[in-house]
Amino acid sequence: MAERSATVVVAATANPHKLAEMNAVFHGAIELLPRPAHVPEVVEDADSFVGNARLKARSIVAATGRAALADDSGLEVDVLDGAPGVESAYYGGGDHDDAANRARLLEELAAVADEERTARFRTVFVLARPDGSEVVAEGTCEGRIGHIERGSEGFGYDPLFIPSDSDGRTFGEHTAAEKNAISHRSRACHALLAALRA
Ligand code: IMP
Repeated sequence: MAERSATVVVAATANPHKLAEMNAVFHGAIELLPRPAHVPEVVEDADSFVGNARLKARSIVAATGRAALADDSGLEVDVLDGAPGVESAYYGGGDHDDAANRARLLEELAAVADEERTARFRTVFVLARPDGSEVVAEGTCEGRIGHIERGSEGFGYDPLFIPSDSDGRTFGEHTAAEKNAISHRSRACHALLAALRA
């Protein structure tokens, strides 16, 4: 039995990569309940990560009457003025078509030199409660966009993203544990735990 009782929340995401990353950091301090199948998908049409995370968390609170934890994340490329940003999942035209998203990013950056390919992943969490209160937490991971895809670990833009806090490999070439140690999502998880303990 843990000394401190776990915060129990319904997870807005069903993405197994994200759930694994989150559980690795929460270590039971936050217990994630699976998203019930009957909860409809929300249209993520806010213009910020926090806005979209709030939409997702609130829709689950409304459907379940329980506290809910939603994240919204994406890639911000400096030379593209922060794009793809909230459009990260749809950047290549499809719906969560990772290969198409990466292909468009490489195309947009085709003429951009190494030193201008700086970027970051950002994750924002909103933990929304039935009483209307909420906790917001954020994490970022700085890096740059490579010229070719490398590695097959992870998902999304991982084969193109070279994190600054590592050794020149892309996230696609990092094991899950290595990525968890420095990722935007794990940093947001730590920030959320700290906010809940405060
Ligand atoms: P979501 O809205 O949080 O699901 O994230 C939107 C998109 O951002 C995903 O479809 C991915 O393309 C990208 N993304 C978010 N986190 C990561 C990551 O850790 N690695 C690679 N791509 C990511």
